[in-house]
Amino acid sequence: MAYDYEYFKKAVFELTTIDLNAYKEKQMKRRIDTLIDKRKADGYDKYVAMLKSDKEAFEEFVSYLTINVSEFYRNPDQWELMDKEIFPELIAKFGKNLKIWSAACSTGDEPYSLVMALSKHVPLNQIKIYATDIDKQILEKAKLGLYNEKSIENVPEEFKKKYFTKVGPSYKISDEIKSRVEFKQHNLLKDPYPKDLHMIVCRNVLIYFTEEAKDEVFRKFCDCLYSKGVLFIGSTEQIINYKEIGYQRKNSFYYDKP
Ligand SMILES: C[S@@+](CC[C@H](N)C(=O)[O-])C[C@H]1O[C@@H](n2cnc3c(N)ncnc32)[C@H](O)[C@@H]1O
Repeated sequence: MAYDYEYFKKAVFELTTIDLNAYKEKQMKRRIDTLIDKRKADGYDKYVAMLKSDKEAFEEFVSYLTINVSEFYRNPDQWELMDKEIFPELIAKFGKNLKIWSAACSTGDEPYSLVMALSKHVPLNQIKIYATDIDKQILEKAKLGLYNEKSIENVPEEFKKKYFTKVGPSYKISDEIKSRVEFKQHNLLKDPYPKDLHMIVCRNVLIYFTEEAKDEVFRKFCDCLYSKGVLFIGSTEQIINYKEIGYQRKNSFYYDKP
């Protein structure tokens, strides 16, 4: 048997249910090979054996694979637009009980930013953000809610004062904000999607997917949204065939369903 990348992809799927075929191959393979070198495993078969027997190596692999860099209010101009246009329009159309999904939420910076941003329009106790990620470990980190100074840099001053407490070198987000987010493990490539949503925020994950996988996810998002529901994507992303899928383009990063 050839212990090549094809073998490795199958083994990873069996171990993690992560389908590496849906991720851009060149980039992903380079990352994985670097990690294998770092671990000094001699070949994919030895590395798979290590993943099976060494919990720490396994967790390191999943975290590394899923690339979970995030920050609060990532690309602040787009959050400003959310505050000035997107939320007011959604509330005018649907009222204050908005169903919002932060898909691939990583360490929680994005769903917690959504709670704070929405709290300018809706009482906090009426807010519920549904937040998911494929990486179980990262969700535990999100629930813990501890951040460094750099990741909260773009949080508006009033919210920094109100909702963060300094704990050693870190900043802890308040339970008031935390309690408004429901975290759950979810694989965008495999699991059923939530229904009847007013807004989906999915940023900086689909860039790692193949064109086919990306297209399928955008189509499924469209099926989940109400008419006039909004999709918010990352600043380096675009939906080229948005019309064909069934979206209207509000601007570069916000699309809605007619
Ligand atoms: C770079 S982070 C983006 C975090 C946040 N959305 C942002 O823009 O700051 C990418 C996240 O996508 C998650 N991810 C990767 N593949 C996924 C999949 N198939 N389903 C769900 N989440 C996935 C990773 O675990 C990681 O936390």
